[in-house]
Amino acid sequence: MLLEARDIAKSFGPVHALRGASLSLRAGSVHAVLGENGAGKSTLMKIISGVFRPTSGSLSLFGAPVDWHSAEEARAAGVSTIFQEFILLPNLSVAENLFLGREPRNALGLVDRGRMAGEARRILSTVGLDIDPDRVTSSLRVAEQQMVEIAKGVMRDARIFVFDEPTAALGDREAQKLFSLIRKLQADGKGVLYISHRLPELFELCDEVTVLKDGQFAGHYRMADTNADELVTAMVGRSLDQLYPPRRAAGMGGAPALQLTGVAAKGLAGPVNLTVGRNEIVGLAGLEGQGQIEITRAIYEGHALSAGEILIDGAPLGAGGPAGGIAAGIGLIPEDRKADGLYLSLSVARNITAGLLPGRGLWRRAPTAKGAVTEQVRRLAIRLRHVGQAIRELSGGNQQKVLLARWLVRGVRLLICEEPTRGVDIGAKSEIYALLRELADAGIPVLVTSRELPELIGLCDRIVVIREGATVAEFAGADASEEAIMAAAIKGGRS
Ligand SMILES: Nc1ncnc2c1ncn2[C@@H]1O[C@H](COP(=O)(O)OP(=O)(O)OP(=O)(O)O)[C@@H](O)[C@H]1O
Ligand SMILES: [Mg+2]
Repeated sequence: MLLEARDIAKSFGPVHALRGASLSLRAGSVHAVLGENGAGKSTLMKIISGVFRPTSGSLSLFGAPVDWHSAEEARAAGVSTIFQEFILLPNLSVAENLFLGREPRNALGLVDRGRMAGEARRILSTVGLDIDPDRVTSSLRVAEQQMVEIAKGVMRDARIFVFDEPTAALGDREAQKLFSLIRKLQADGKGVLYISHRLPELFELCDEVTVLKDGQFAGHYRMADTNADELVTAMVGRSLDQLYPPRRAAGMGGAPALQLTGVAAKGLAGPVNLTVGRNEIVGLAGLEGQGQIEITRAIYEGHALSAGEILIDGAPLGAGGPAGGIAAGIGLIPEDRKADGLYLSLSVARNITAGLLPGRGLWRRAPTAKGAVTEQVRRLAIRLRHVGQAIRELSGGNQQKVLLARWLVRGVRLLICEEPTRGVDIGAKSEIYALLRELADAGIPVLVTSRELPELIGLCDRIVVIREGATVAEFAGADASEEAIMAAAIKGGRS
């Protein structure tokens, strides 16, 4: 066995992140690690990559016990980890990052920049990355930084590659590129550990899966011998017969709450024509970067439009800073919740009340806000120890629910959700879907963007396809198929 983790426990003070997690990784295997938000997947990966030491349990590499005291020790032993938060140094060049601490030197002991650049170029090409090694790392796209991380592992001759939700921030094409690279690692006899909440990609890529539940081993399966139902039951503890709530009947969407007519958002040609009814969930579909985000931000931020008009409940949305949309009662759950939405160093309670007016935000002095926080925590089934806990410590799905709670305590009239379930486990997904439906039923319509077509098809009453900044097709959710949406997204024609 390449790597074996046996009965691993890890506590953070009173929190038992792991209690009895086990996993065996074979050489030449792409091994999925699956579990709900907070199940302990990332913690186990951090133990395997030397970031944390286990409280108890054993780890062995090629049958010999190991006890790493740092990530550097694990790296030296052949474990290369591609974390969600990259550890590349943003201000260094790509080549400098690749060779950090082991720069080639010339006879005088100086860094041999020429050789470094040449070798960097060769290594980058082995992972299919055609970029200038002198480029500053921060100028790279997420997918490219990921490739550099992998290149670094390849260069150090790593035997084990650990990926923690690598596709969360990637588009489809980039994800496919990553998969082919992972298959290459597999063909070279490396062992790959792969965490993702996207079941379809696990079936596409992995040959084995270990399921964790509440920090414990909850099953091991060969991908070929299992199916989504069985895995969901193992990770959630119950079968999930209904991922999506029932849809509204066609024509029952209610009066228009949001109308875009002939809109051209910043830098886009348009036109966008779009209506969201009072009780509807409407999805924006399209290939990567066709203007979906520019459109949601135009609505939320009240950007000056180069053409057209946005009406909220029949009244035109004024221009002028983020207050435009917020003042009109629009809430936004941003695509990048860590960068745009959450105050990571603050408590859950402060994150929920962050949008309330000053004075009321200090809930210690405002019992009503405290009541509102508790109510939302219960309503959304947010899993936490207490509302004073730092939001950073919550798992991804629960962080997402906190953002929803923030808008609910403010009382929004319309909610925009960009990628509402990115990084969210399947149990929490179904809870979020049910909640969005509940909001729409209560007269808070939802406009949602998602890269995952099955999610749009399952959730939305209508799906509008965007191509090159313009609306090009529209489907009733009940009639939509992935093929038809893709055809419209690529060719732009109406179905
Ligand atoms: N540094 C920490 N301090 C305190 N608690 C922590 C810390 N890191 C993780 N935890 C807790 O340990 C548990 C497991 O977290 P972990 O991040 O491993 O889950 P996960 O399976 O990766 O979830 P997700 O799918 O949301 O990424 C959670 O309850 C989390 O709140
Ligand atoms: Mg995690």
